[in-house]
Parts: sequence; structure tokens; C-alpha cells
Amino acid sequence: MSTLVTGACGFIGSHMVEVLAEAGHEVIAADTPSALEASDDDRSRWPSVSGRVGARQVPLDVTDAASVSRAVKCADLVVHIAAVFDYMASESLLRAVNVEGTRNLFDALLAEGSCKRVVNYGAGGIYGFPVAEEGPFSEDSPKRPHNPYLLSKWDQEVLAHSYRDRGIEVTSVRPVTPYGPRAIYGSGQLLIGLAERPVSFRNLTGNIPFVHVRDLCRATLHLAGHADADGEAYNVTDDGRINAVSLTRLIAQEVGAKARILPPVPLGAVRKALSGVARIDTARARRKGSRPLLEYDQVQYFGRDFIYTNDKLKGTGFEFERPLPEPGLRETVRWYLEHGWISGPRKRRG
Ligand SMILES: NC(=O)c1ccc[n+]([C@@H]2O[C@H](COP(=O)([O-])OP(=O)(O)OC[C@H]3O[C@@H](n4cnc5c(N)ncnc54)[C@H](O)[C@@H]3O)[C@@H](O)[C@H]2O)c1
Repeated sequence: MSTLVTGACGFIGSHMVEVLAEAGHEVIAADTPSALEASDDDRSRWPSVSGRVGARQVPLDVTDAASVSRAVKCADLVVHIAAVFDYMASESLLRAVNVEGTRNLFDALLAEGSCKRVVNYGAGGIYGFPVAEEGPFSEDSPKRPHNPYLLSKWDQEVLAHSYRDRGIEVTSVRPVTPYGPRAIYGSGQLLIGLAERPVSFRNLTGNIPFVHVRDLCRATLHLAGHADADGEAYNVTDDGRINAVSLTRLIAQEVGAKARILPPVPLGAVRKALSGVARIDTARARRKGSRPLLEYDQVQYFGRDFIYTNDKLKGTGFEFERPLPEPGLRETVRWYLEHGWISGPRKRRG
């Protein structure tokens, strides 16, 4: 089977390419020309991976309809991963790539006609912040995307599924926090940050939902071949329960440092205070085109308790290789150490 992966040089895309190649797919690895030509040291770009597994590399900018038409030729299956995943991105860029780029992709698939099956990457964040009385997030939970990125991902999903009326089978995955080698943004910031400074507050006991990137890609492949998955969306999260305190201890142990667990703090008030600082820092960074120390939209996750169900995914017969996050998180921290992304508090970089 010939499978096109969009966003193939990104964190998740690079693992998707590997998982598909291992399963015997003929992989077409598509990404922007700049991503295909980037070095693996560039922020979260891994062009070498598709070369290593023998995938065919194809330039694709989803905002350019002509390049999309060229890329989709001959694909039997499309795994649509390409997106702007960056809380600092402008609303116009998020809409142009995540929403209008998805429209270009589906329009090209309709025009080309060979591919009738797409797995679309949504986001677990579309349910918004947890409300204790409502219980864990299931696929049917209300959607409350609370920032321009999440809004664009929800609009992308709704748009993608609208093409089912025109004969394309569409399934969406809604990953929570994917982690694993090559994650530099998102989970990477959390793990690298805690490795450099293993500090937490004793009452940061809310769940941090994780999924290993290999399981996410395995779930994607599984759902692509599952007839009942057409028209459906699936939370992709593991079975684990881990909080900031246990995560801090785990990471400290892995880098050979001592975790500092500080006395409890009023979490809501601290989040509010951090938000104030982050708002100014983020606005200043946007003006300068740099990155802030504290991203406003990431601070909003501080001190919350995110629990998702994965019953629907498991109901399709999917089995996790890593149902619990601890072993994979340790492996990932070792990967950061080996690749120089962290040196551990004992031996800091630079
Ligand atoms: N990493 C997470 O925490 C997370 C969580 C939930 C959902 N997701 C979703 O998973 C997908 C992949 O995320 P990731 O972490 O691998 O991000 P990433 O930034 O590492 O990868 C995204 C890829 O898309 C490519 N891309 C960007 N603009 C493009 C364009 N105009 N045309 C073609 N390709 C373009 C980039 O070059 C990059 O290789 C995204 O759809 C994201 O919304 C990610």
C-alpha cells in the first residue's frame, strides 16, 4: 500500500514514517521544502528519518494547492499530520495551514480520486480545561478549544469529516501529550525543563496525560485499517496516571539529580500570577519574533488534572505497547541526554 504522510519531518511524522515502513507500506514522506532540506538539529525537524527507511521524499506545502495536487498522486492512504503546532503562531498562519491547508488536501484528493481513506490528526486539547463534575474527557465531551491553535485543530477536524459526504473515509485521532525521542516542543519542553531544574510543588498532583509517540503512530495505523473507524474520532492516551511530583522524581533519578519538592502552593493563584508574567513575556516575544521564557498558553495547563478515557480506542482491539508512561519517559530522558538536549543539572550545557 502506498501511504502519504504529511508533516513527515516533524516529531510525530518522523515516527509515523518509521512505523509505516516497518509494516511494509510504501511511504511517501511529504513536508515543506525547507523541512526536507533542514538539518536534524533544527528545531523539531527530522528529515534524515525518512531517508533512512527508504521513503520517497516529496515537497509539499499544504497552503499551495498545486504542490498538494502533485503530492497526493498515487497515494492509497493519507495520514495527515502536517500542521502548525506552535502556541506562538499567528491566528492567520494557524488558519492558513491547519484549516485551509486541510481543505486543499481534501480537494486535491477528490480531484485525483485514487485515495479514499484519510487519518486526520486532531488534538486532545479541544475539550478545553477539565471540569471536575464532568469526569474524564471522552470523545463526546463538549468541545471548548481555548486558544487559536486548538480552535484551528477543531475546525480542521470538522472540515476533514465533512468530506465523508463526498466519498472519502475519514478518521481523526486526538492525541493527548505525545512524548518520545525527537519531541522538542510540547512534551519536550516539559521533560527537558524538569531535567535541567527538577523542582515541583507537593500539591501538583493533577494527572498529566501522556502517550508514547510509537503507540500514537501504531494506533493511527490500526485505525486506518479498521472499517468501523470511518467517521469516528479517538482519544489517544495511555492508561497511566502520573503527576508533576512523580514525574519530577522520575526525571531527577534518570539524570542523577536530587528532586526538590517544595511545600504546597495555592495552584489557581500561582497560575494567575504566572499568566500575568507570561502574557507580557509572550507579547514582547511576538513583537520581537523571539520565543518567550513562559508561553502564555502553556502556563494555562499549570496545576490542572487532565483525565481522558481511551475506552473507545481499546474497543477497536488496539493494544498499547507502552500502556504506562514511566519506562518510555525514562527512555526519552536518556535520548535527550545522549543527543545533547540536556546535560542534567550536575553538568549543565554551555
Ligand atoms: N506534539 C503534540 O503535543 C501534539 C498534540 C496533539 C496533536 N498534535 C498534532 O500532531 C501533529 C504533529 O505534531 P508534531 O508535534 O509532530 O509537530 P511538528 O511541528 O514537529 O510537525 C509538524 C510538521 O508539519 C509540517 N508543516 C508545517 N507547515 C506545513 C505546510 N504549510 N505544509 C506542509 N507541511 C507543513 C512541519 O514542517 C512539520 O514537519 C499536528 O497536526 C499537531 O497539531 C500534536
